[in-house]
Amino acid sequence: MSVRTHQVGSQGLITSVEGLGTMGMTAMYGTRDDAGSVDTIHRAIELGVTLFDTADMYGPFTGEELVGRAIAAHRDDIVLATKFGGVTLDETGKIVGGPNGRPEYVRRAVEGSLRRLGTDRIDLYYQHRVDPTVPVAETFGTLGDLVAEGKVRYLGISEASAETIREAHAAAPLTAVQSEYSLFTRTVETNGVFDAVRELGIGFVAYSPLGRGILTGGLRSLDELPESDWRRSAPRFDGDNFAHNLTLVDRLWAIAEKSGATPGQLALAWVLAQGVTAIPGTKRRAYLEENIAASELSLGSDVLSALSEAIPAGEVVGERYSPLGMKAIQE
Ligand SMILES: NC(=O)c1ccc[n+]([C@@H]2O[C@H](COP(=O)([O-])OP(=O)(O)OC[C@H]3O[C@@H](n4cnc5c(N)ncnc54)[C@H](OP(=O)(O)O)[C@@H]3O)[C@@H](O)[C@H]2O)c1
Repeated sequence: MSVRTHQVGSQGLITSVEGLGTMGMTAMYGTRDDAGSVDTIHRAIELGVTLFDTADMYGPFTGEELVGRAIAAHRDDIVLATKFGGVTLDETGKIVGGPNGRPEYVRRAVEGSLRRLGTDRIDLYYQHRVDPTVPVAETFGTLGDLVAEGKVRYLGISEASAETIREAHAAAPLTAVQSEYSLFTRTVETNGVFDAVRELGIGFVAYSPLGRGILTGGLRSLDELPESDWRRSAPRFDGDNFAHNLTLVDRLWAIAEKSGATPGQLALAWVLAQGVTAIPGTKRRAYLEENIAASELSLGSDVLSALSEAIPAGEVVGERYSPLGMKAIQE
């Protein structure tokens, strides 16, 4: 089992088609298991995963610290991706404001991420959320300077509209756009984002490709989740919404039973079949191995259509984030 690689964007970045999302290792999803998480990262490297995704706000800071520790002996073999500006963080990691794309903040953020990751360069640096108070060209002007200085190799943006992607790309070439994309979240197919990245030669990185776990078919009740788990307050996982969304997952189960793959593997293989990079997240070795095996599945057009039809865009109910979280994304 070894995951294949592909080119992301047009600036020369090569990554495994499936990366590893590390957010849940220290944030959002349940309790920490640092030893298990580090073991999962090492197993991913053994299996040929080269793309590792984190952000300063995961923790905050603890996500980057954990990833930095885990990849230290493999630094030159991997693509280290992190993000800034999803929220404003002070030096101690306290959230002191909303999205921040101010040039002086970007410079401070990159130094903090380099230090916590224990590296002299970030391979892929994303603006995590667009700051509506700062022209994106100004933020990307500074990011372009960081590339020239060698602190950052490639640039990305997360949850940006097609218009913002075009403005950012004109200021400094974008290598990747990262947004939520899965059988449950297909907005980028119709809001101009896919059209823009294809036209401009920018790679697309799909986050939450397992719908934050629901598409694996294993998450049937919120009682299984610790009190602190973010999904307990997420609209899609709330009460009637969750019950309805589980009926869509049942349709995925029905296809999985006939295909010999798990629902999660089908969901991942469907995302990969759209020609994008996927970064499923897990802290567990067994889940990682199951997810990597999905990258070797080659689904026929009949199965791909059956999957698309089983979960039609628009049938999933509940917003992706709370009202405050929705305000920070450009759809
Ligand atoms: N740019 C952004 O704004 C943004 C937002 C969200 C996420 N991300 C990035 O995208 C990555 C992936 O997204 P995500 O973690 O939110 O969602 P995801 O990959 O759709 O799902 C992760 C959840 O699924 C579970 N899981 C994974 N593989 C499984 C398997 N084979 N069987 C059963 N359960 C499985 C994980 O469990 P365990 O936790 O128990 O391992 C975790 O709870 C994140 O880690 C992060 O790096 C970016």
